[in-house]
Amino acid sequence: MVEIPDYLLERSREARARFQGTDAEPVEQTAAIVESSASNEETVPVKTEAPEAELEKVEPPKPIAPWVEAAKNRKKIPVWMAPVALFLPIWAFMIWGTLEEPSSHEEGPIAAGGEIYNQCATCHGAGGGGGVGYQLNEGEVVKTFPDVESHIAWVVNGSSAAGTPYGDPMREDSQRISQAQGVMPGFASLDSLQILEVVLYERVTHGLQSPESLEAYVIWAESGDLPVWEAGVYPQLIASSFDEFLESNAEAEEAYEEALEEATG
Ligand code: HEC
Repeated sequence: MVEIPDYLLERSREARARFQGTDAEPVEQTAAIVESSASNEETVPVKTEAPEAELEKVEPPKPIAPWVEAAKNRKKIPVWMAPVALFLPIWAFMIWGTLEEPSSHEEGPIAAGGEIYNQCATCHGAGGGGGVGYQLNEGEVVKTFPDVESHIAWVVNGSSAAGTPYGDPMREDSQRISQAQGVMPGFASLDSLQILEVVLYERVTHGLQSPESLEAYVIWAESGDLPVWEAGVYPQLIASSFDEFLESNAEAEEAYEEALEEATG
């Protein structure tokens, strides 16, 4: 018998098995024969490994059950629906908030004053809580300026020279005193309507006065009949313009008298 080296025999057997897809059975038989012809024993454990791996690959795919197939093909809820569903209650809540009926001072001159107040907010705080400028809210602004006219004059002119007293001389703690000329800038650049609007806004929102008590001034703002207020304007001058207006407008005069009665009880 011609001696063929075992490793060559082994290699050809493996190749054949791989090619035909047969299993390890015949390999073992031949291996036994080869073994009997006095050959190396180390070849025996090597042979079975490759065919075993082959077997796994050949296994046909399991048929998919029809109900599994149906479940896979049915229409699904799109993935983006998850966050949508999550936020729906929040949106509903937000929309609900906007459905409220507007209260009387969410439109008209007082509301318009809220827009202008943005120019004041840098110093007095968005809610009037104060900053560089004094706190205006929680009624503070009305303590300094109990009357609309001196409030208007202040906003037009801004601060006077340091040490100049301003506002109510009987203010609960003590009268205000200007820190320095212009630390509160004058707003003569705004027109009279804008000045009156921001003053009315401050008196309602920060000063906590009722819109009804200011009705006559609201009518004045809406009349289109405001005088021009330039730097240097003073409260008495504004008051005399207002008196003239009341004489010419019965509705405003009535509103003013009603407010006076309310205030004096
Ligand atoms: C650059 C900062 C600044 C801006 C802007 C500003 N203020 Fe003032 N405001 C001040 C300062 C400072 C004072 C105190 C004045 C002083 O001490 O001389 C003051 C005082 C006041 C007061 C009197 C408050 C009190 O109790 O003494 C009112 C009312 C007021 N400001 C209204 C306004 C309005 C209305 C606007 C916008 C149209 C405005 N301010 C914009 C700085 C500012």
